[in-house]
This record gives sequence, structure tokens and C-alpha cells, in this order.
Amino acid sequence: MENFTYWVPTKVYFGKDTHKQVGTVIKEYGFSKIMIHYGGGSVQKTGLLDQVTQSLRDSGIEYVLFGGVRPNPVLSLAKEGMDLCRREKVEFILAVGGGSVIDSAKCIADGVLNPDMDPWKFFTKEAVPEKALPHGNILTLAASGSETSQSCVITNEDGGWKKGFNSPTHRPLFAICNPELTFTVNRFQTGCGTVDIMMHTLERYLGGKGKNTPLTDRIGEDLLKTVMEAGAVADKKPEDYEARASLMWAGSLSHNDLTGLGRAYVMQVHQLEHELSGMFPSVAHGAGLSALFCTWARYVYRWDVPRFAQLAVRVFHVDMDFENPEATALEGIRRLEAFFESLSMPVRLSQLDAGIKKEDGAVLAEKCSQGGTRVLEGIYLLGKKEMEQIYLLAY
Ligand code: NZQ
Ligand code: ZN
Repeated sequence: MENFTYWVPTKVYFGKDTHKQVGTVIKEYGFSKIMIHYGGGSVQKTGLLDQVTQSLRDSGIEYVLFGGVRPNPVLSLAKEGMDLCRREKVEFILAVGGGSVIDSAKCIADGVLNPDMDPWKFFTKEAVPEKALPHGNILTLAASGSETSQSCVITNEDGGWKKGFNSPTHRPLFAICNPELTFTVNRFQTGCGTVDIMMHTLERYLGGKGKNTPLTDRIGEDLLKTVMEAGAVADKKPEDYEARASLMWAGSLSHNDLTGLGRAYVMQVHQLEHELSGMFPSVAHGAGLSALFCTWARYVYRWDVPRFAQLAVRVFHVDMDFENPEATALEGIRRLEAFFESLSMPVRLSQLDAGIKKEDGAVLAEKCSQGGTRVLEGIYLLGKKEMEQIYLLAY
């Protein structure tokens, strides 16, 4: 087991009606003026925004509203949010929405207190945010894990670059997670969320080197089985509370580092996907992952057959073929792909309705490898050539 530091400071309020406490929660932290950040309209449609503002008024908290975050959130909107926060002397940002809204809030929080800094430099790793406004969230979609994660992922429309970076400033003060708020998430987004939650654990489980992590492995395996069961139920019964609750809690645990402790942290498929949804913003993150993952797995499994076979046996109930462990590993990947298809998720890039052409693979690889200067760490190093092959094979 590798050394690790595990720090997840976010306080989680989980369960029915928890969002109605938001005013009291924020008052306890001592904030009196906040910004409410949200997306393209779902929070108005469901009545959630009214409930949130009511709770804030009841607690005597002043607020400004700032909506309009689109999926795959953009830097230009976040910059507007930074200006608004400075102008209004906002003390705290409350994100109400899915991963895109929460990430936009994190980006704003970093930028507000660093007014002389180009916020994109944090994403290109030319600068580090030493301080940020505090933020918290009411989660409406189980998927990204951003509600407790240390990541923030933003698209710079200037060039179509989508980049993420990790920082302690990205850990929210609190996450309010009421599974009932996800009843209105449509079938496609529920599928995207199920895939993304699985990916955060699968990438840690398969992608990073590491030995002797039996507890981490078993936590990950049980999380994957739970998510597959719950995802299948939510796919058919969107208002099944227990299924939505399992997805929501798994979403937080899958990306708060728990399922990778003691192993090297790498995310090759996420890096490949971020280029995709950066260049083609209509691609939903979970759908992009679904379209790439099994091709990536078939490309790299040879470099760790025992690990892929372990996954196949323990999660996908494949019988171990001791004569031919490769066959066991491949059958596990096939069953994962079949699961994605059962949710009507794409398993090829050509199935994404985004106008992607086969020759775009070369451009995507050029961007992902930063002109051939970056390689992605993992059980098998991916340079520009390998990235392009994966994009082409996944088409
Ligand atoms: O914008 P609104 O109107 O709210 O609609 C959203 C959006 O259209 C809708 N939605 C959200 N909650 C709903 C709802 N519709 C009905 N009822 C509800 N309760 O769902 C659509 C997708 O929302 P979005 O926030 O984009 O989805 P998700 O949570 O999957 O977030 C995706 C973003 O997170 C990033 C992704 O790259 C992508 O940009 N990620 C962030 C991570 C992190 N910060 O830790 C890690 C992830 O790997 C990921 O990269
Ligand atoms: Zn993800």
C-alpha cells in the first residue's frame, strides 16, 4: 500500500427534506450575504430555488441570484460571477445543481479573492489559488462527485480547452444531499451519472499502479455492484428513493478519494474525455466516458491482466479461467459494456450525437498530449500516438 493523506472536510447532510435546513446551516457558519449559483432552469422548474430562497429569508440571510450555468461549464460565465461577488461583497457561494454548477461555483470562489490573477492559470497549473471564498452546495444530480471532491473542471471557450485541477480550496464546507431532488433527472442524465460514478472508482481500481490494497479494492468492488444495481432500478423507476439514495451516496464516495487510497491516482479515460467534451460541448461527460472506456480497457488490459480478471470475477461474476486469464479479463469488459448498453449509453464515439468525425481523433490526441509533450501515466503510458489509436478504435 502506498502512503496517503485522506482529508475530506465536507460536512454532508443526507436525506429527505435536508435542503430545507440550508438557511440554518449557513447561519451557523456566520455568513450574512451569499450568492446562489444555479444552472439552466431545472431548479426553477422543480420549485427548489423557491424553497432555498425561503429558507434563507427565514434565517435572515441576504442573497444574490446568479444562474445560467450550462453543462460543461465555461470560464466566461465564471468570470462574470467573480465580478458579481466582488461588487455585492458576497461572503459565501451556494451552488444548487449538478457537477457543472458546483464546478462553476468553485472556479468563481478561487477567482474572487485573486483579482489580479488570470483564473485560467490555475487550470494550466501556472498558478495556485492560496485562498478562496468558502462555498457549499445543494446537490441535484448524482454523478460528478464534485459535492465533496477536490476537483474543479472548466471549459475555456477560447480554444475549446476543458481542464480540471485539484485544490484544497475546492472542498465544499457542506453538501446537502437529498435523493428526492434527483427524481426529476431524466433517463439519459441518470445513465450518464451512473457511468460517471462507476468511472471514478473504475479508473482508480484499474488505471493506477498499486499493490496490497485489499480494503480499498473491496470498497471499490462493492461500490460498483451497488451502483449497477441502483442505476438499473433508477433507469426504470426514477422515483425509487432507495435507488436514488444509493446513487447519490455512492457518487460522493466514489470521487472523494476513498476508493483509490493506497494506489497511484491516475485518470486516463477522464483526460481523454475532457478533450472530447471540451471540443464538442454537447457531449455529456458521462456519455463521453461511456463511449471511450471499454475501448481504453481493451487497449491497456494486457499490462495488468490479473487486475482486470479480479474485477471480472468479483464484480461481473465471471468464472475464473485459470488456463486463460485474458479471456476472463475480456469477458469482464464485455459485461461492463453490456451494462452501459442496457442503460442506452453510447459505447462508441460515433454513437454520440455531436458531429464527431473519425479524423477528429488526431486533433483530440494533439490537444490531449499538448502537442506531443504530455504523456498520461497509468499501467500503460499513453502518448500522442496511443491516444490517437484509442480515439480511432473507439469511433
Ligand atoms: O442546468 P439545469 O437546468 O440545472 O439542468 C441540468 C443539466 O442540463 C440537469 N439537471 C441537474 N439536476 C437536475 C437536472 N434536471 C432535472 N432535475 C434535476 N434535479 O442535468 C444536466 C446535466 O447537469 P451537469 O451538472 O452538467 O451534470 P453532472 O453533474 O454530470 O456534471 C458534469 C460536469 O462535471 C464535471 C464534468 O466534466 C462536467 O463538466 N466533472 C466534475 C468533477 C469534479 N469537480 O469533481 C469530476 C467529474 O469527473 C467530472 O469531470
Ligand atoms: Zn467523471
